[in-house]
Amino acid sequence: MSEIEAVSALEILDSRGRPTIRAECRLADGALGHASVPSGASTGSAEALERRDGDPARYGGLGCLQAVDSINNEIDSAIGGCEFAAQTEFDQTLIDLDGRPAKSRLGANAILSLSLAFCRAQAAQRKLPLYRHLAQLAGVQPRLPKPMINLFSGGAHAGGQVAVQDVQIVASAAASMRRTLEISSDVFHAAAQLAADRYDMRLLTADEGGLAPLFENSRSMLECAVDAIAAAGYQPGAEVALTVDVAASQFYADGRYHIDGASLDRSRMVGLLEEWAANFPIISIEDGLDEADWTGWQLLRKRLAPAIMILGDDLLCTNPGRIQRAIATEAADSVLLKVNQIGTLTEALAACQLARSAGWRVVVSARSGETEDDWLADLAVGWAGDFIKVGSITQSERLAKYNRLLYLEQVDGLRL
Ligand code: PGA
Ligand code: ZN
Repeated sequence: MSEIEAVSALEILDSRGRPTIRAECRLADGALGHASVPSGASTGSAEALERRDGDPARYGGLGCLQAVDSINNEIDSAIGGCEFAAQTEFDQTLIDLDGRPAKSRLGANAILSLSLAFCRAQAAQRKLPLYRHLAQLAGVQPRLPKPMINLFSGGAHAGGQVAVQDVQIVASAAASMRRTLEISSDVFHAAAQLAADRYDMRLLTADEGGLAPLFENSRSMLECAVDAIAAAGYQPGAEVALTVDVAASQFYADGRYHIDGASLDRSRMVGLLEEWAANFPIISIEDGLDEADWTGWQLLRKRLAPAIMILGDDLLCTNPGRIQRAIATEAADSVLLKVNQIGTLTEALAACQLARSAGWRVVVSARSGETEDDWLADLAVGWAGDFIKVGSITQSERLAKYNRLLYLEQVDGLRL
């Protein structure tokens, strides 16, 4: 049993310099947990709602003081002194207290920060590292996920200079986390040199630390990634593969895909993705189609799976109901797991387990607005994610997670 002594929170800043929430949960026996929550820029419309103050005088309306106040007052009064046997009970209490489907009253940002802080407090109470506690919640053996590391950015993460949002690398042949990061660093620096040579670009980076030169089009982004892998001395495909987050909802309007100066219907968009898959060493396509274009997703999966992962982010929003629909209609075959899209650990775990039960792969993901908190690394390990997607190997809010993975490999002896 874990008795809550008190919960509290404060407004802090994320990696984009925008407000977010850091919460603490203190148990009656003195165990303490804290957690900071991230925030997305290219959000799916089915995501749980982040509560923002809307006061234009502070942070352009993005302040989180009301959500923080709810934690410090309403929630603290409601759950202070209460005993919870498990994470599920704690989360359900917050869901019920909120009372709205998208968690819009108290805010999914407030609720998730407490869900995570309680989880850490319970791990502390049980004297377990967070990943071990999470692994016991999930009933799986912990293991290291393979990183998908951001190389180039476009779309909502880089001012829209090119339609595709992110091109990542996966050091597929690397046998350890240490080697994965060595290879990824080599490729990243080769890419930075190419960006400087081809696009006269100084080392300016996008939201997740990816390079964002003024590519002529999406194809040149993919070509540059392959060239960077080769320039770093690795074999594209055999040693380092690509994953693409198309984030197609961002350039879908009036039933058409507006990409690279063209306006494509569903079947031509699928054709374009097939052409990329045939000509580049791509192993995963995320959000290749709009979040409401279920027919397009089915077509894409038919054409490209299982050779290529058909990964749903905006389509699924870590929502068990949407994942169930995608399983039933064969619209995807892997899920991007972002716990703040749904708002509690319990619901995110249900999403993860549902995807697994269908034989899907799970990609545990950060958001484009992150903090230096490293809980995501423990979650990816504890829930045995197949991949982790955190952004580039620059910027400390990303490195907090990679460095935690390096620690878990070298000190706790976990393996890929
Ligand atoms: P977001 O981007 O955090 O801005 O939503 C990440 C992604 O689309 O995968
Ligand atoms: Zn995405």
